[in-house]
Amino acid sequence: MLFTNGTDGKFSMTKVKRIGVLTGGGDAPGLNPAIKGVVYRSSERGMETVGLGDGWLSLLNPPFDVVPLEWSTVRRWDRDGGTNLGSSRTNPFQTPNELGERVDRSSEVIANIEKLGLDAVIACGGEDTLGVAARLSQMGVAIVGVPKTIDKDLSGTDYTLGFDTALRNVTEVIERSRTPAGSHGWVQVIEVMGRHSGHLALWSGAAGQADIILIPEHPFRYERVYSLLKSKLGDSTSHPRDPQHPRYSVIVVAEGAYAEEGELIIMDDRHDAFGHPRLGGISEVLARRILSDTSYEARSVVLGHPQRGGPPSPVDRIMGLLFGARAADAVADGDFGKMVSSRGIAPACDLSMVDITAVLGRIDTVDVARFYDTDRYHLKGIGM
Ligand code: F6P
Repeated sequence: MLFTNGTDGKFSMTKVKRIGVLTGGGDAPGLNPAIKGVVYRSSERGMETVGLGDGWLSLLNPPFDVVPLEWSTVRRWDRDGGTNLGSSRTNPFQTPNELGERVDRSSEVIANIEKLGLDAVIACGGEDTLGVAARLSQMGVAIVGVPKTIDKDLSGTDYTLGFDTALRNVTEVIERSRTPAGSHGWVQVIEVMGRHSGHLALWSGAAGQADIILIPEHPFRYERVYSLLKSKLGDSTSHPRDPQHPRYSVIVVAEGAYAEEGELIIMDDRHDAFGHPRLGGISEVLARRILSDTSYEARSVVLGHPQRGGPPSPVDRIMGLLFGARAADAVADGDFGKMVSSRGIAPACDLSMVDITAVLGRIDTVDVARFYDTDRYHLKGIGM
């Protein structure tokens, strides 16, 4: 195995021959195109690629789930959603033992990388998976990161794989929610993923023309939601043919949104390996409040994991292929401890390599001053 030999992440001691690629955290459309990009470019640059099953877990659990990846294996992967390598939320620095205590098993990961004869690892993931990659890189492992998450909350890059497809998925549901809401005359509250960032909620809400969009970056007031509903719906929704007032409304709420006087709504007491609570339930809380505090009928729906489902959009295919190929180039050039980053989105995008520690301890959230109308609870500047 090769180790970086300096603070600049460059090394030239031995030619890299064998790359292990893994995908960790929540799956996202765009990962399989990225793997294809890695494999195609690697073989062009004379390197061999193997896939490591289920993220960092594969490097902790012998017998190791290692899949040889030839170009012929991944030829059709660009059309596949999810990740054909499998994924897990494994934190080698905090792995539960038989007693349920969390122990640091990072040295096993490093030893196993060596045992598998890997000269470098390409880790595709979000803040958690790449956070592990950043720490392993600081310990001398030759690593390159590829950014993915439907939350689009990674620092150091404009684009994260999966966002565009999730945006399409969520927008479709917002559109489809209009017919039942309109037929019956109710307020449809739609809960969208994104953890503590509102990118997915804000842009899907704008694309699907929701009337109100609530995001974690700006705690909302119930009274303001009611008055916005009133200005849209009038006093009631029981007037199907009133030209002034539609009889339904759509609210998009990010799972991490919360009221000024309230708190984050979580599903249960469980936390994942990185200490994140499972967010969920704000849509039902809001719908109940609308029912009890106003004259409007309300329904809630939590969109859940299908938001991440289905085949990658054209943007995710292209960005995945570009990201994967760029990561393979970085490995071939010995440019370790870096993450592929994009300014802009294809076709207008510039790729570069940024320090992978950019992802540590911070997330990228919606720039409220630039994009969010805090009075109308909507995308700024579009008159809604
Ligand atoms: O980070 C991606 C994401 O889909 C978040 O939007 C969501 O909060 C979380 O993963 C759900 O976690 P899990 O897939 O473990 O249920």
